[in-house]
Amino acid sequence: MSSDPVCIDDFEQHAKTFLPKTYWKYYSSGSYAHISFEESKNAFKRLRLRPRVLRDVSSIDMSTSILGDKIDFPICVAPTAVQKLAHPNGEIATAKASYRAGSCMVLSTWATSTIEEVAQSSPKGLKWFHMYMLTNENDNLSRIHRAEKEGYKALVVTVDAPYRGSTTKDPLYMPPHLSYINVESYNCVLNNPDTATEEELTGVNPKNTWDMIQWLRSATKLPVILKGVLTAEDARLAVQHGVDGILVSIHGGRQLDTVPAPIEVLPEIIAAVNNKCEVYVDGGIRYGTDVFKALALGARAVFIGRPVLWGLSYQGEEGVYKVLQILKEEFRLAMGLMGCASLKDISREMVVHQSRYSR
Ligand code: FNR
Repeated sequence: MSSDPVCIDDFEQHAKTFLPKTYWKYYSSGSYAHISFEESKNAFKRLRLRPRVLRDVSSIDMSTSILGDKIDFPICVAPTAVQKLAHPNGEIATAKASYRAGSCMVLSTWATSTIEEVAQSSPKGLKWFHMYMLTNENDNLSRIHRAEKEGYKALVVTVDAPYRGSTTKDPLYMPPHLSYINVESYNCVLNNPDTATEEELTGVNPKNTWDMIQWLRSATKLPVILKGVLTAEDARLAVQHGVDGILVSIHGGRQLDTVPAPIEVLPEIIAAVNNKCEVYVDGGIRYGTDVFKALALGARAVFIGRPVLWGLSYQGEEGVYKVLQILKEEFRLAMGLMGCASLKDISREMVVHQSRYSR
């Protein structure tokens, strides 16, 4: 690329040409026919904005809080695995950029940097830890205790992956200098992928049920967020089980194909939850207007996955910072043009389906 990227698509184009093909494929792909993956982006394009005019927008405040902690704008970093494929500093670079930007980062269980080094690289940055509830309970407990000790403020428990989606069925053969450094037992499995069972390759315990929430409650005082809830039925169960938040997500279109786009599911979840816990959304967010639409439909904040990986591959920490800044500025502009000086001015009727205007 001859000049600096100016939008998220530019970062993606750079990553596509810069990254080794296998890494690009691992990061960019969705499962099977890519229907849900593509829809996660296209569904935003089907929504239309209804701006209000003549409302003083000379000063725009994007700040908010998630689970009581302040963030400068409502765009956070979703957990994504093996970030050191994109840049040698991987998750450490992401954590530093997220802190500098005033955002929140979720560190994946499948990170290539340790829970401790990420925490120590950005001690004041807001960080949540992502949990896969693996078959080995001691592994689970040990990661929870390490995250608590290092000051991570919440656990994001992914529940849409009792098995791996098709994209990652071929295990990613990690370069020898990298590993799933926080879960030693899993590395043993992956070093022998040809003899491992499907369950071992997934790592996640497919026997998990809602009882797991109770187990988590007894294991930690940290707030628990469920990632991957896609129906009102499960959202109500999540509330009944006392979760602190729901992250509406289709895992970047990498798990069950043909599920609806997260932004399409969001209103159903918001209605079912009825303000009993915070609700966030991720998937397909590439523009500031996407962020605006998600907030208008009820999300407290959004999370981004691949754009961070594209930023990392561009310039490490600086690249992730630029990605967050670009989305933040696009969101600020969207707010201003929509007549919203603060997040509380964003309202449900500002977003409608395009069918309202087409005959
Ligand atoms: C992910 N995602 C993910 N989710 C999760 O709960 N645990 C994980 O370890 C990972 N790892 C992961 C790796 C890669 C390469 C990708 C692309 C995604 C899903 C991620 O948290 C998030 O839900 C999506 O990436 C959001 O969609 P976008 O922003 O990528 O469109």
